[in-house]
Amino acid sequence: MKPPISQRVADIQPFQVVEMLARAKALEAEGRDIVHMQAGEPDFTTAPDIVEAGMAALARGETQYSDANGLWALRQAIANYYLSDYGVDIDPRRIMITPGASGALLLISALLVDQGQAVLMTDPGYPCNPNFIRLMEGTPQLVPVGPEHGFQLTADLVKQHWRSDSDEHRHTVAAVVASPANPTGAALSREALVSLQAAVEQQQGQLVVDEIYHGLDFRPEGATRAVTSILELTDQAFVVNSFSKYFGMTGWRLGWLVAPEWALPGLEKLAQNLFISMSTMAQHAALQCFTPATRQLLDARRDEFKRRCDLLLPALEAMGFVIPHYPEGGLYIYADISRFNGRFGHNSQTFCHFLLEEHGIALTPGTDFGDYRSDTMVRFAFTTNIERITFAIEKMQRIFEL
Ligand SMILES: Cc1ncc(COP(=O)(O)O)c(C=O)c1O
Repeated sequence: MKPPISQRVADIQPFQVVEMLARAKALEAEGRDIVHMQAGEPDFTTAPDIVEAGMAALARGETQYSDANGLWALRQAIANYYLSDYGVDIDPRRIMITPGASGALLLISALLVDQGQAVLMTDPGYPCNPNFIRLMEGTPQLVPVGPEHGFQLTADLVKQHWRSDSDEHRHTVAAVVASPANPTGAALSREALVSLQAAVEQQQGQLVVDEIYHGLDFRPEGATRAVTSILELTDQAFVVNSFSKYFGMTGWRLGWLVAPEWALPGLEKLAQNLFISMSTMAQHAALQCFTPATRQLLDARRDEFKRRCDLLLPALEAMGFVIPHYPEGGLYIYADISRFNGRFGHNSQTFCHFLLEEHGIALTPGTDFGDYRSDTMVRFAFTTNIERITFAIEKMQRIFEL
């Protein structure tokens, strides 16, 4: 008998990367040595000062609900971060603390999307995005993007795909991009953001920019940043960010959003009802993220991710992988396997299956991120240390350079 679940849940796809992790863990439980290059989270544990601040908050008895919008001190600290790192002055009232970027994406989707309405997003892209829209009984409009578009939505693509017919219930209402993106690491330049915002505004829609990989951007030596925030250009876009990646707090479940003034009452109403409060302990811990000592440690970790990328990327190219876009940041390399002509699996899933089951190297198949050319793409996450990456490279050289 069909289980009595709602259609909107039946329509949601499982998160394959989680399934891949489960299989890798099962193999490890059987005693196999697995190199984890599938995990979308830093392998470093949370910085000691942050952990201590969390424990101190617990010891002080900070165990009760906090404000639905988040601790005021943390919202102020984030506003200061935008001022010091981006030179933009954001009213802390426009910053809401959320349960990860995931919570921010859920709030924004619930705020903007009515049943039947559509949201533009890239294929390939973060796999949960279409599901947030499906949950609202909206339509994810997946726009195929390749190297010719820098793996991002462009103003032209927005114009081409925006749906605005006589029935407003079917309109496109928003576009969601991530910069740098998952799985490609592709970032939107300042110029690209300007024209994207203008194109979305022209359609009277909303632009949502997921900046979760900011901080993990690969900047030239001595430079303060290699990416632009949409907040530097407009106060009318929605920004999603998180303590998960650069700040290394995935398991604490803490993120934030920055919204235009008009959106605040609606978002607050939603947050009160959906979450009541974020983890109070985690918020006190996160206050420690912005001290100079913690920032120094986090920056050193960022530089380590860059070193790993610089090691892995040319090694993959030498083996026959094609990297259609060199990442500007993030934790991933998106690689094309078509030069292997099906020798190690006829598509990205069987290729990943082969590498995991036969050689103990866990990757994520491109099919996790969409349909467009995804059969020939795989994602390498450089979320394991240099020794393990070197070990995996040597193993792969023996497999692919026969
Ligand atoms: C692009 C993107 N957005 C959002 C998330 C969700 O992150 P979290 O909820 O841990 O902040 C992820 C996680 O991998 C991601 O890659």
